[in-house]
Amino acid sequence: MESKRARLDRFISVKTSINRKHVRLLLAKGLVEVDGKVARDIDQIIDEFSHVCLEGEILQANTPSYVMLHKPIGVVSATVDDKHKTVIDLLTHKDKHSLHIVGRLDLNTSGLLLLTNDGRWSKRLMSPEHKVAKLYRVTLKNPLDVSYINAFAAGMYFEFEDITTLPAKLEIIDEYTALVSLMEGRYHQIKRMFGRFRNPVVGLHRISVGNIVLDSDLVPGQSRLLTAGEVSE
Ligand code: URA
Repeated sequence: MESKRARLDRFISVKTSINRKHVRLLLAKGLVEVDGKVARDIDQIIDEFSHVCLEGEILQANTPSYVMLHKPIGVVSATVDDKHKTVIDLLTHKDKHSLHIVGRLDLNTSGLLLLTNDGRWSKRLMSPEHKVAKLYRVTLKNPLDVSYINAFAAGMYFEFEDITTLPAKLEIIDEYTALVSLMEGRYHQIKRMFGRFRNPVVGLHRISVGNIVLDSDLVPGQSRLLTAGEVSE
């Protein structure tokens, strides 16, 4: 989801159907306010969260929202679905329909799911270049051994996408449980990586995304707004 940045004069013209020449006049007369301050510069760049008023009339007043949800198993990471309950159905947030999902989880995966209406923020968290770690607890059908550690660190070639996965960290917790940290989120990535060992994943739970850790007291299905500190981290 891309953020919507625009030049102020163009934004007002599109929003009001007033021609650009007249918009410049209104700006020069000091009749436009951006975030509570008079704006005279036609080149000013605004985004979807800039509050814009023309002669006291609000043209745009969106506020960014950031939500943490404990996604339960059996709920689909989508905004609409014919068959299953969606993660949006679980939210109590008043503007929940304006939110998008930051990194989907499979139907049978539980754990931390982030939602926002801020496209720039979600892009930063999810793009592999930013190297934000996503930490998962994985339960396997068959016993693990240390050979998995190097295979995950070396990366695996996925023919379908013609990519090699970025180095991933695998820590063995016990015979059937591992912690896996990924810097990316390819389709069914963890299941496919363990699939190379013919070892089916029987439980998958996302613990954290970067420094944002799922609250231990948030029961499956519950959500809360992120703190300003979590958003800026
Ligand atoms: N990897 C998977 O296979 N599934 C998920 O839901 C997340 C990561």
